[in-house]
Amino acid sequence: HNVTLLTNMIGAGVSGLSTAQSIFEQYHSLIIPLTIEVYADRFTPLTTSDGAAGFWQPYLYDKGNVQETKWCKETFDYLLSFLRSPDSIKMGIFLQSGYNLCSESAPDPSFKDSVLGFRTLTERELELFPGYSYGWFNTALMVEGKTYLPWLMDWLRERGVKFYQRKIESFKELVDSGVDIIINCTGVRSGDLQFDPELTPGRGQILKVQAPWLKHWIITHSFTAGTYNAPYIIPGSQSVVVGGCFQIGNWSEQNNSEDHQRIWEAACKLEPSLKHAQIVEDWTGLRPVRSKVRLVRESMQSGQSKFEVIHNYGHGGFGLTIHRGCAQEAARLFGEILELKDWVPKSSL
Ligand SMILES: Cc1cc2nc3c(=O)[nH]c(=O)nc-3n(C[C@H](O)[C@H](O)[C@H](O)COP(=O)(O)OP(=O)(O)OC[C@H]3O[C@@H](n4cnc5c(N)ncnc54)[C@H](O)[C@@H]3O)c2cc1C
Ligand SMILES: *[C@@H]1O[C@H](CO)[C@@H](O)[C@H](O)[C@H]1NC(C)=O
Ligand SMILES: *[C@@H]1O[C@H](CO)[C@@H](O)[C@H](O)[C@H]1NC(C)=O
Ligand SMILES: *[C@@H]1O[C@H](CO)[C@@H](O)[C@H](O)[C@H]1NC(C)=O
Repeated sequence: HNVTLLTNMIGAGVSGLSTAQSIFEQYHSLIIPLTIEVYADRFTPLTTSDGAAGFWQPYLYDKGNVQETKWCKETFDYLLSFLRSPDSIKMGIFLQSGYNLCSESAPDPSFKDSVLGFRTLTERELELFPGYSYGWFNTALMVEGKTYLPWLMDWLRERGVKFYQRKIESFKELVDSGVDIIINCTGVRSGDLQFDPELTPGRGQILKVQAPWLKHWIITHSFTAGTYNAPYIIPGSQSVVVGGCFQIGNWSEQNNSEDHQRIWEAACKLEPSLKHAQIVEDWTGLRPVRSKVRLVRESMQSGQSKFEVIHNYGHGGFGLTIHRGCAQEAARLFGEILELKDWVPKSSL
């Protein structure tokens, strides 16, 4: 049962690369040869996944979407499993603790059982943060795209995966070159390839500063201004990320000086020692916002050619947080296609 299977990934952010990895891990010994090609117009360090802070935390509430909470937890457990290895730092993974702050009491977040040591803040802790009367402390993980993406690319390259820098204008381009399965991990611009009215940009601007004395992340939540429009501070391995904003529907990747000023003032109020930190750079990115992640397979046709597509996009402000759970699910869908098409015997799956 030897089949030659050509799989094309579109997208080289965390979704595309991790999906390629999961597919390789699960099927390379079943399908010989399994050819995986990755097409993207932007590679590391220029993707959204590179600019993100890389903090593991989804939105506070999953609004009943327990599937996404599960994918996030699977990602947490997966990343945690590398912490006993010296290579964890080559992957950009490390533990970090911190505070979620609210100005009123609130139900426990959906991720409370995924993280380590989740608890409510004490009165003494709250005294550190005037203006906030409620919150939680826990240990979470960092997975920094600027390190993790190069690690993933090396991992894939060592296993024969090829990368091509090219903008894909339509699926047809790939189908005409004989592709069997297309995997669509195009982030916020997925709508260029197939219109998706549910997908919108959530523009975010952050400042990166030198403040090596800050050891804890501090995320504030405003139930009126909305997620990530309230100040947050996330120490990373090289610099501290200060945010933020979340502007729905704005496609601009330009830095804005008014946003810069507003973000900086709010952050200095939250953490006064920032006044002595040196601002290194601004970065603006577009979160691929959707009511929920689109992770499905679809049979499509272009002229006489039939092909299979697996969509994996729309991870909003938590793409690094959820990536591995989604990659594993995309790989499962890949297996369904193999079975459906009789490309491998059922017993081997
Ligand atoms: C300010 C900010 C901070 C963030 N902080 C965090 C955080 O701390 N933790 C967290 O979990 N998430 C965070 N996020 C969210 C996270 O960055 C995204 O959810 C994640 O990067 C999405 O990954 P992706 O692989 O789907 O898309 P991307 O990283 O955007 O990659 C998309 C890929 O598709 C390619 N592509 C698209 N269209 C085409 C085409 N037509 N042809 C060829 N290639 C194409 C691109 O070139 C690119 O390679 C943040 C986002 C922002 C904006
Ligand atoms: C990827 O998904 C987007 C959004 O649904 C769609 O516009 C695009 O056509 C898809 N690309 C491919 C190659 O199927
Ligand atoms: C989008 O953001 C840019 C940069 O901050 C700003 O100049 C522009 O006015 C915004 N556009 C809209 C429609 O809000
Ligand atoms: C935003 O500012 C940084 C420097 O702080 C710069 O490197 C980057 O190119 C700017 N982005 C845009 C789109 O101008």
